[in-house]
Amino acid sequence: MTSINRQIHLVSRPEKEPVLENFALVEGPIPTPSEGEVLLRTHYLSLAPYMRARMYDGANYAASPPLNAPMVGTSIAHIIESRHPSFAVDDYVVAPSGWQAYSLSDGTGLQRINPDLAPLTTALNVLGLPGHTAYGALTRFGRMKSGDTLLVSAATGGVGSVAAQMGRIAGLRVVGIAGGKDKCRYLTEDLGLAAAIDRRGGDFAEQLRETCPDGVDIYFDNVAGALARSVLDAMKNYGRYLVCGTIAVNRDLGFPESKDNLQEILAKILVKRLTLQGFLFSDFADLTSQFHTDMSGWVKSGAVKYREHIIDGLENAPEAFLGLFSGSNFGKLLVRL
Ligand SMILES: NC(=O)c1ccc[n+]([C@@H]2O[C@H](COP(=O)([O-])OP(=O)(O)OC[C@H]3O[C@@H](n4cnc5c(N)ncnc54)[C@H](OP(=O)(O)O)[C@@H]3O)[C@@H](O)[C@H]2O)c1
Repeated sequence: MTSINRQIHLVSRPEKEPVLENFALVEGPIPTPSEGEVLLRTHYLSLAPYMRARMYDGANYAASPPLNAPMVGTSIAHIIESRHPSFAVDDYVVAPSGWQAYSLSDGTGLQRINPDLAPLTTALNVLGLPGHTAYGALTRFGRMKSGDTLLVSAATGGVGSVAAQMGRIAGLRVVGIAGGKDKCRYLTEDLGLAAAIDRRGGDFAEQLRETCPDGVDIYFDNVAGALARSVLDAMKNYGRYLVCGTIAVNRDLGFPESKDNLQEILAKILVKRLTLQGFLFSDFADLTSQFHTDMSGWVKSGAVKYREHIIDGLENAPEAFLGLFSGSNFGKLLVRL
């Protein structure tokens, strides 16, 4: 085993959008666990849009990391030394390790996973937080009915692909939004969706009318931004607008001037009797066991497919992370160490 630890530190806060220079690769000694601690070796690091908000001061629903410390993040790790009574060497865990090859833990936030039940990476993807978020939101707030039209943005991503396939399994007519022809082909040919909209492929409102001629019953929105207005106009009476993510809007930079008029939006919500629902994955902790039973069954039977975009090498994490905001990932973005 090497004696060098590699970490990606956050070394400056973004002035506007995050840039590569906000990160630095730092090498140092591998730490030694004290009594009550374990030493973890990271195998896969999850890169996710929420991390952008952690780069700024004054994060919205969780604290930002200090400067010159590892960036926050969740990984799949393997315990290589244990001085903790509840964890053994060779246990695999999901860990809030941050962006680093080796880390110490006192056990807080570690979730043991069984590598014999499913491929390890699924614990950061379809059987982990992204899948759980989609499952929780549709189960609790979707009021899915066979025949309804479900529209999903960022539909090839970690969260969106699960939301879209859950809708298909429940007998809904599902339309996915994605950036580019390859992603759209994947949605219809591999995931079996009724139609796909290429958000880079021409007039969005027109594509929405063509693919959802009777309107939208449920919008699972992972992005917000410019698409939202057209979708609001396409929502049917009693529609459910589920606000999962706002990746198209960097809330830390404030909101752009727009023609949107809150009073007009409220009037539309009233007239169409829409439900507008935001949520955080942590709201669905009580659905954990139901989620694992259903999702493992769907993954095993092939009803739910998943796709990973794996980048090799911790040093490549910053560039891969920034690619989330231009849509360069095709599937759940992971770094293999
Ligand atoms: N509420 C919660 O608790 C919770 C939990 C997890 C994730 N989320 C949110 O869910 C969303 C999806 O997360 P994920 O981890 O599954 O990421 P992801 O979908 O795998 O990756 C992000 C995707 O967003 C799309 N995108 C990026 N910038 C965009 C823009 N300006 N306009 C439209 N689309 C854009 C791109 O896909 P295309 O190019 O294909 O469109 C990109 O590949 C994020 O907003 C995330 O913050 C929320």
